[in-house]
Order: sequence, then C-alpha cells, then structure tokens
Amino acid sequence: MTILVTGCAGFIGSNLVHTWLAGSDEAVVNLDCLTYAGNPENLAAFKDDQRHHFVRGDIGDRALVDRLLAEHRPRAVINLAAESHVDRSIHGPGAFIQTNIVGTFNLLEAARGYWNTLEGAEKSAFRFLHVSTDEVYGTLEPGDPAFRESDAYEPNSPYAASKAGSDHLVRAWHHTYGLPVVTTNCSNNYGPYHFPEKLIPLVILNALAAKPLPVYGDGLQVRDWLYVEDHCRAIIRVLEAGRVGQTYNIGGRNEKTNIEVVRTICGLLDRLRPRADGKSYAEQITHVKDRPGHDRRYAIDADRIRNELGWMPQESFETGIARTIQWYLDHPRWVENVSSGAYRKWIETQYGQ
Ligand code: NAD
Ligand code: TYD
Repeated sequence: MTILVTGCAGFIGSNLVHTWLAGSDEAVVNLDCLTYAGNPENLAAFKDDQRHHFVRGDIGDRALVDRLLAEHRPRAVINLAAESHVDRSIHGPGAFIQTNIVGTFNLLEAARGYWNTLEGAEKSAFRFLHVSTDEVYGTLEPGDPAFRESDAYEPNSPYAASKAGSDHLVRAWHHTYGLPVVTTNCSNNYGPYHFPEKLIPLVILNALAAKPLPVYGDGLQVRDWLYVEDHCRAIIRVLEAGRVGQTYNIGGRNEKTNIEVVRTICGLLDRLRPRADGKSYAEQITHVKDRPGHDRRYAIDADRIRNELGWMPQESFETGIARTIQWYLDHPRWVENVSSGAYRKWIETQYGQ
C-alpha cells in the first residue's frame, strides 16, 4: 500500500516521513515543488530507500496529481504543502492564496475524481487528511479558554485566512461530494529541520552567529508549543482512526510567552555552547517593531483527540527544546547549507530551475 503526502521536503512533512518510515514499510509518494522552504536534504536518509518516492511538482498541477493518483493508487492523501510563514504572507499574500486555497481545491478535485473510481473496501478506506493550523481560530485574551474544534473561525493574517479557506473547502467536499476527509488543526511546532525564518530556529542560529535575537513588540505574545514528532504521531493516529468529516485540534498544553522561549534557548545555549566572552546569549535579545495584526495568544484544547483517539504528546517543552537545540548543534552542515542558501544551488543543479 501507498500514501501520497504533499509538502514533505518542508519542516513537518520531512519529520512525518522520518516518523512514518520508522514505524511502517508502507511507501510514501512525496509531492513537493521545492519552494524556498523545501529542502531535499531533510530527506537525505531516504535517498536510496525504495519506500520513499520523491516527485517535484505543484499541488496545483491537476494533470500531474491525476497521474500520480492513477499510477500509485494511494489509500490516502495527506496534504501538508503550503506557504506557511505569517510574515511572508503579510509582504506577499498572493502565493498563499494560490497554494493554500487554489492548490488545496485542485488536490480535492483530483482526489474526488480518483476516489470515484474506487470500489468496495478500497473506496470506504480512502482518506483525505488535511493538515491545518490553530491560527484559523484567531486570537485569545489571557483568561480565555483554549481553542476548541467548535469555535468560530476568525483568521487575522493572510496566512491564517488562506488556511481557513482551505479548511472550508475540505469540509464542503465532504458534505457536498461525500469525500472522506479529516482535518487537523495544530499549534506551533518546533524541532529538527525547521527553516530558520520561524522563531525557535531563528533564535538558535542567530545566537550562535552572534546576531541580534529579534523579539516582536513586548514579547509577551503566547504560543502553545508542540514538538514536531508529537504532531507527526498525531497525524498518523488521525489517519488510522479519525472519524470521517471530523476535525481534531492538536496541541501540547505548553503555553509560553515568546520572551520566555527566547530566554530558555539562551539559557540552554549558555550551558551547551558558552559564548567566548563568557556573557549570556540573552545579551543579544533586541526588541523590534511588532508584526501588524499580531495574534496575542494561541492555546489548544486537545481533549477530542486525547479522548477519542488516545493521543498524548510525549515531549514536554523542556525536553523538546533541549532535544531541538542539541539537534542544531549536532548538524552544522545542514545549518551551514540552509544559512548560506547552498541547498538552493543544489536544487538548481539537480532539478534545473
Ligand atoms: P514548510 O513551509 O516548512 O513546508 C511546506 C512545504 O510545502 C515545502 O517543502 C514547500 O516546498 C512545499 N510547497 C509549498 N507550496 C507547494 C505547492 N504549491 N506544491 C507542492 N509543494 C509545495 O511548512 P511546515 O511548517 O512544514 O507546515 C506544513 C503544514 O502544516 C502547512 O500546511 C502548515 O500550514 C501546517 N502547520 C504548520 C505548523 C507549524 O508550526 N509549522 C503548525 C500547524 C500547522
Ligand atoms: P513564528 O515562528 O513566525 O510562528 P507564528 O507566527 O505562526 O506563531 O512566530 C512565533 C512567535 O514569535 C510569534 O508570536 C511571532 C514571534 N516572533 C518574534 O518575536 N520574532 C521573530 O523574529 C519571529 C520570526 C517571530
């Protein structure tokens, strides 16, 4: 059997391939067009592994997606391909609308066409799993209860709005056409292979490079952090046993202010890789202009996935952040290639673009 997963050269997708193939011999067809965020080096471990089949292409390319579905006959499609960075969505929302909304529409139509050709057990077992974010719910005040699946969508950034749009399409394709879909809404992830435009890898790499650690505004915005492997295990569990048409919130109950996160990273680096001058990395913290429309707080109520599917995170923030920092310290070549952009040059050589 086979699954088709989109966006697997990115952060969560590549971690999902690692987690999936560590626990299963079921092949993964990986469709990724390799934007700046897609890095084939994340999957170097599977270069000669028959179970991983990489296809460079766009989820918006209907002929390609149709061909892949007909050729590989997957029992499921997991959609992770997306433009994912809020700050980029503020500067250039067009790509977010194109991939996250139009691309998801295209994938749904292709999946619907393929699903309609299936029969019997194959047809009833098929799943379209859409990976989304807690940012669709908007922002919380300090004392508000955490986001629940029944909360109204109130997206505030172009990124969140584009993900909300894609979630609505997925829902409609189930209600209108019967496509067996499941959607997950996860909180902020962190861990290995995270592109250093996002807070945690940016702070680790800037600290080591003696650069400023930019904290937006007062740094008291709250995010609910989840170690990426826990998210991957949740996706696999939802694929296995999630109810068709249902949505599942995924989160670690690890609410931290941004400044707390940055100070924790500085403290761990002070121990693991002390600065030559003996001072703390915290000296590099710089408060910078806030992000427009910046959501103040996210928090996830993950009761449904815990009660229905028995999923629980295995990492606390303390263990997860220590593992993450150690991973970056242990992978200087990956860091160097990502920081210098060398992996982009390799993509041009390998795939010619
Ligand atoms: P990422 O930006 O690291 O990776 C996205 C991947 O999608 C890249 O490999 C990119 O090349 C690929 N891609 C982009 N446009 C494509 C297209 N049109 N066709 C094919 N491939 C395309 O993102 P991520 O952090 O790994 O996030 C993966 C998914 O999880 C996204 O849908 C995101 O919204 C969701 N999510 C992320 C987080 C988080 O904290 N990172 C939290 C919750 C949900
Ligand atoms: P980010 O990693 O971009 O994720 P998201 O915006 O999807 O939550 O940012 C996490 C938090 O950190 C968010 O509140 C914005 C803040 N932030 C900074 O303070 N400085 C930075 O340089 C970045 C990239 C983010």
